[in-house]
Amino acid sequence: MKTIAVLTSGGDAPGMNAAIRAVVRAGISMGMNVKGIRRGYAGLIEGDIIDMDARSVSDIIHRGGTILYTARCPEFKTQEGIDKAIATCKKHGIEGIVVIGGDGSFRGARDLSLGGIPCVGVPGTIDNDISSTEYTIGYDTAMNTAMELADKLRDTAQSHERCSVVEVMGRKAGYLALQTGIACGAISILVPEVKFDLEKDVIEKIKAVHKTGKKHFVVVVAEGVGGVEEIAAKIEEETGIESRATILGHVQRGGIPTVRDRVMASQFGYHAVELLNQGIGNRVVTFVGNEVSDKDIYEALAMKKEFSLDRYNIATAISI
Ligand code: ADP
Ligand code: F6P
Repeated sequence: MKTIAVLTSGGDAPGMNAAIRAVVRAGISMGMNVKGIRRGYAGLIEGDIIDMDARSVSDIIHRGGTILYTARCPEFKTQEGIDKAIATCKKHGIEGIVVIGGDGSFRGARDLSLGGIPCVGVPGTIDNDISSTEYTIGYDTAMNTAMELADKLRDTAQSHERCSVVEVMGRKAGYLALQTGIACGAISILVPEVKFDLEKDVIEKIKAVHKTGKKHFVVVVAEGVGGVEEIAAKIEEETGIESRATILGHVQRGGIPTVRDRVMASQFGYHAVELLNQGIGNRVVTFVGNEVSDKDIYEALAMKKEFSLDRYNIATAISI
């Protein structure tokens, strides 16, 4: 391939810039021209394309967000949208694309590959909810951000002898919530993957632990479970412990990417370009068993992600 392009799609994630940098510089070092597609698939449909050189990605490795902007583009789910995107590729001589995003973005990459534009997906989402990979860019930074914020809530909960009910992002997945809950010593962690009984698993537990002398509590609730206001109200009503609900929200998606996110993003981006350089598309980059590799997009999208029940059970056992 002579000309490849890179785009970011779906929710942004810290480390996406490091991945863009890796793609651009890997492409150049392999003798290719690299273009940037702005605003994800929306930019591809509209032809919002820029030339990238090594300097265009200087000074971004440490920045959150994405210099290429990102978008959610419903039109790309239609054949008309795909056809427009393919026409843009033809017009700009784009022969392959690195798509940095989540499962939804990979579905788009599959459709584009099917339309004759080989694509390689790079996993980028704070949710870590992509089945084919154990790691996604942004997860580490988001976990650390959520943990720091939950720690701050713990400080004020401790001072006021309150219960803090914290909602952590993750869309339909509870990975970010589980990690945050363990790291901040939550009394209960509520995730969509594990059935729970609010009365038994949260309220009775708080009452029992309260009797042993503990005076403040943090309950972590995954976004996919939701209802933090109601949960806090119920805890207060039934335990008599004053409770407050906090939705951490989009602050979890920003910030300086951690070492792990920068390094993983650099490896993922490089690997994606190596594939395109060999003319290989319709793949997603994966991280399994500590190794960066790749998988067929169809296979990757058909996989189901295991939830770490062992870790969940440990968290439950030690939060007493
Ligand atoms: P993520 O990539 O983080 O999972 P989304 O699910 O919002 O985020 O998907 C990002 C974009 O990918 C969508 O706005 C759309 O343009 C494209 N996309 C999502 N699902 C599909 C699909 N089934 N077919 C084609 N494109 C899709
Ligand atoms: O996929 C990343 C994510 O932050 C999810 O955790 C969350 O459900 C969603 O994106 C929020 O999307 P938006 O930015 O459109 O509100």
